[in-house]
Amino acid sequence: MPRFISAKPDSRLIPLPWETPLAEWPVDLLVALPRGLSRHVVRFIKVGDSVYAAKEVISHLAEHEYRLLHDLMRLGTPSVEPVGIITERGSVGGIPLDPVLITRHLQFSLPYRSLFSPGVRQETVSRLLDAMVVLIARLHLIGFKWGDVSLSNILFRRDADTFAAYLVDAETGELHTHLSDGQRAEDLDIARTNLYGDFLDLKTGGLLQEDLDPMQLVETIRTRYDELWHELTGVEEFSGDELGRIENRVRRLNALGFDVAELDIQTDADKETIRIQPMVVDAGHHSRRLMRLTGLDTEENQARRILNDLDTYRWRTGQSHVDEAVVAHDWLTNVFEPVMEAVPQELRAKREPAQIFHEVLDYRWYQAQRECREVPIIEAAHGYVHDVLAALPDEEMNPELLVPVVENRRLVNPYDPSMGYVEEGEEPPHDPWEDGVEEAPAAPAVLDMSTLLKAKK
Ligand SMILES: Nc1ncnc2c1ncn2[C@@H]1O[C@H](COP(=O)(O)OP(=O)(O)O)[C@@H](O)[C@H]1O
Ligand SMILES: [Mg+2]
Repeated sequence: MPRFISAKPDSRLIPLPWETPLAEWPVDLLVALPRGLSRHVVRFIKVGDSVYAAKEVISHLAEHEYRLLHDLMRLGTPSVEPVGIITERGSVGGIPLDPVLITRHLQFSLPYRSLFSPGVRQETVSRLLDAMVVLIARLHLIGFKWGDVSLSNILFRRDADTFAAYLVDAETGELHTHLSDGQRAEDLDIARTNLYGDFLDLKTGGLLQEDLDPMQLVETIRTRYDELWHELTGVEEFSGDELGRIENRVRRLNALGFDVAELDIQTDADKETIRIQPMVVDAGHHSRRLMRLTGLDTEENQARRILNDLDTYRWRTGQSHVDEAVVAHDWLTNVFEPVMEAVPQELRAKREPAQIFHEVLDYRWYQAQRECREVPIIEAAHGYVHDVLAALPDEEMNPELLVPVVENRRLVNPYDPSMGYVEEGEEPPHDPWEDGVEEAPAAPAVLDMSTLLKAKK
């Protein structure tokens, strides 16, 4: 009898055929979604309106990963959410089946192979690198040594004009109270080797723009990590008449999205030199503030943008003296919600609400520039829906829109139904996620708004 270990059980998972190896599961239980390379058998399971990722992995590792993912959640680090482990699955031919680790499918996550595609702007690549650097630094701050940083172990989500990176594979992770410089260096060395391989692979497959060099990309990651780490943890020394530098340091850290728990300030006997060292707690400065004010759960840069709009709204409506929480409520009812209502139901799977709002603000800005007038936000929302959103690809893995894997069609890979099936009358499509790198899959026509606006010009 299979056994479930779960902090948040979903009873719909219980009747599934756990006594069958994951690779042989009936295809009607699975959905084909893009994913990274994996060592283990990984499948996406659909139950009701939820999609879960299931990974068959040896016993002690499944438990280790499950607990680590829990710790990461508790510490507020962006990672996939653990749902449970299924053990005691019986045996096949006398060999016991490995446990299955279940995580919730991360909504709106973008597979890296569609982000790094020909025509992707250098700026976009640069932002992806930054997102990775922030993720690694955040993990190091809480004492997490990943041990396996790679593109396949990271998921990206949109965050205003940038990206937010999430950890997806914690199997090799270790959580310590504090990481030594040596432990961090080791982690960065592994990252370097893996990422170099990943970039080289993308390059060989024609997925990386010609002028981007894999070696240079990994070096950039290292340099940016060192800069960020220094800003987050470095000691700063200055003379007694430059006291403003204390506040500046905190401001810079907040601007990077980090909160300071403690600032260790030491002065020497004659107060000539001052030495400060921050203890940074966590990223998410702006998203926490926005959550407190409005209850909106967003990424960091989306929050920053929305908070700016909130400030402008406060000033514009003459409410500077009114309590911020009251203005926030007012803004939610008069600005945010009407913008969301302007988006037809069938287009809502294209972007998360906060991302839509951010893009509407961008759209309004472009329109105001073009027409030299103030554009009301609702007018901009309608324009955005019509000109931009309708042309973008769906990014939400909306279970209702997913193509199920159907039994009477030919699967691309019979051993891996989640890779999808062959279209009738067509050769098996080249699978961009699991195999070859000789031939580049067609780049998605439109990935972001600036590309679209440029194309419209
Ligand atoms: N919860 C999830 N949400 C979205 N994608 C996931 C999730 N879990 C796994 N994946 C996808 O499956 C791939 C393999 O999972 P991973 O845990 O890295 O397996 P392995 O340990 O075999 O490397 C990942 O690269 C990712 O694309
Ligand atoms: Mg992995």
